[in-house]
Amino acid sequence: MRSSVCVFALLSAILPAALAVVLADTNLMINGITFPTRAHWMRLANEALGEISGSPCPFAAFGTVIVNHTASEAGKLICMGVNENENTGNPSLHGEMAAIKNCTAILTDPHGKFRMSASEAQDAFADLTLYTNAESCPMV
Ligand SMILES: *[C@@H]1O[C@H](CO)[C@@H](O)[C@H](O)[C@H]1NC(C)=O
Ligand SMILES: *[C@@H]1O[C@H](CO)[C@@H](O)[C@H](O)[C@H]1NC(C)=O
Repeated sequence: MRSSVCVFALLSAILPAALAVVLADTNLMINGITFPTRAHWMRLANEALGEISGSPCPFAAFGTVIVNHTASEAGKLICMGVNENENTGNPSLHGEMAAIKNCTAILTDPHGKFRMSASEAQDAFADLTLYTNAESCPMV
């Protein structure tokens, strides 16, 4: 038990640093997406906070964008979302879940651009990429 606690503590200390090195590698392609493109969409996930909540640093500052990279590496915005726990009282509406909920509404809107059925919308998510931050404002 004690050794597993030590291993966990060691991994907790090393992994963020290792992950930071990987994420900062500007030559690394992830799923065919270049670093500048990923950085662009992460900036938009941060900007979603201000755009949707009205503050760049709201309570639980988790912003998300959902992007279609199928047609081009640059990608196309489908929807965005931010943590809605406080303004809805729904504890499941974290930034990612709020964005997925928003995208579902946009994809299935009978008067919208996509007009998908529920099963078409569910299938469409397989092609989409979700970018989300983690309380970005304490870091800026
Ligand atoms: C994503 O892009 C592909 C290629 O253009 C397109 O066929 C698909 O309908 C798009 N999906 C959404 C949800 O926009
Ligand atoms: C849903 O996504 C759209 C498109 O990105 C955005 O304009 C809108 O503010 C989002 N709505 C909510 C409730 O997050």
